[in-house]
Amino acid sequence: MRTRISNGTIVTPAGRFQADVVCQDGLIAALAEPGRGGPADEVIDASGKLVFPGFIDPHVHSRDPGLTEKEDFAHSTRAAAAGGITTICEMPNAVPPVTDVHVLRDRAAQHSEVASVDFGLWALSLGPENLDQVPRLIEAGAVGVKLFWGYALHRTTRQLVYNLADEPPERLILPPTNGEVFQLFAAVARAGGLLAAHCEDRGVIEACQRSLGHDLERYDDLLAARPDVAEAAAIATGAEFARATGCRFHVVHISSARGVEIVRRSQRAGISISAETCPQYLTLTDEDYDRIGPMMKVYPPVRRAADREGIWQGLLDGTITSVGSDHAPHTVEEKRRSLAAQPAGCIGVETLAPVMLDAMLRGRISAERLAWVCSEGTARLYRLYPRKGAILPGSDADLTIVDPAAEWQIDNARLHSKHNLSPWHGRRGRGRPVLGVLRGRVIMRDGEPVGEPSGRPVRPAEARPADA
Ligand code: NCD
Ligand code: ZN
Repeated sequence: MRTRISNGTIVTPAGRFQADVVCQDGLIAALAEPGRGGPADEVIDASGKLVFPGFIDPHVHSRDPGLTEKEDFAHSTRAAAAGGITTICEMPNAVPPVTDVHVLRDRAAQHSEVASVDFGLWALSLGPENLDQVPRLIEAGAVGVKLFWGYALHRTTRQLVYNLADEPPERLILPPTNGEVFQLFAAVARAGGLLAAHCEDRGVIEACQRSLGHDLERYDDLLAARPDVAEAAAIATGAEFARATGCRFHVVHISSARGVEIVRRSQRAGISISAETCPQYLTLTDEDYDRIGPMMKVYPPVRRAADREGIWQGLLDGTITSVGSDHAPHTVEEKRRSLAAQPAGCIGVETLAPVMLDAMLRGRISAERLAWVCSEGTARLYRLYPRKGAILPGSDADLTIVDPAAEWQIDNARLHSKHNLSPWHGRRGRGRPVLGVLRGRVIMRDGEPVGEPSGRPVRPAEARPADA
């Protein structure tokens, strides 16, 4: 099967150029002069369109298995395909969570049956409880080891506990101590893996909740209970652990200007530290709460305009490498509860690309930088490059074709997740993925997934000296 994507503008982090992309047997076979790609079984006209390397969402919680009342892998990956994503990395906090290699292998097999996009799998750290499994999980192909730093877990289900007051202490696995986290960094470093952490210092949060002295009522209470110093302090501690152990340390969903500053400073000092942010931190602030309401509750919280600006700065100057959605669905019923009572997390895998493309067309970010943070930079971070994240001969033929002129309005009723309450509902913008190609096959047309689910597992390449 030979497919030619003709007359489009190829966008890579290194620049933009007109070319035909020739795909054969799932791979990119060649780049050719516009209109000169030769005969093909299928020709896709991309005149006037931007052809990006397939977008990657490295931060998706599909809740599958175990919490499928909230979401499942079939729905989340259809939503991903609909939104122009061709690969996701699936977070490990389903039931059971991915804490050993048996679960990792089962999960890959199970998800392969229903996946609409390719997927990597995260492993979960339980602190000392599964420290011995960490090297095995890395060797078995987990894209990274995730530490929900500061979260307590249910002793039996090992689920995240969002609100500590909800559970009696004997039913909790308390978060690892700093000493135990330090040992985790050392173990991941020895195994050559990537350690990613949710960074909010639990001690700081508890102290702030105590001084607040009452339940969350207004959005300001949430910001007072989970201030930026909680994020910055955790990142600074992690940076020191990374310095001491040589571990590759990744900060997921960075939400504060202070956090970005610590990452920047640490990178300048030569520490192996990287960061991700999400569209919610780039496009929303506390001022949107009156309009959106409690369902914009996410951890870490969406903060103030100055934080949003600091994060944009970090995204543009290279401090932040990757944008993920932190697609973290809950049921509509749960997300309609009060600010205090509802679990944190919002859907976002389907809106990631449109929201970022709109920012691009408003001049906030160049197309080249977008190709980095939504594709190549992410692929390199998880060692999926150049199989993913590249439009090069030999790479998987994963492409996200964007119509820069298309206008859109996000509508909950038209999203593809199981529970659709988007914080961007009603938002208008410009620029959307109109065609998704996964290993040479069209998986999305005009925002609708097409064809049988054909996603496959992907795993990091072996560490090569060039990565070191
Ligand atoms: C995530 C979830 O619900 O799994 N929620 C969230 O608010 N981001 C957990 C997490 O990523 O911290
Ligand atoms: Zn998190």
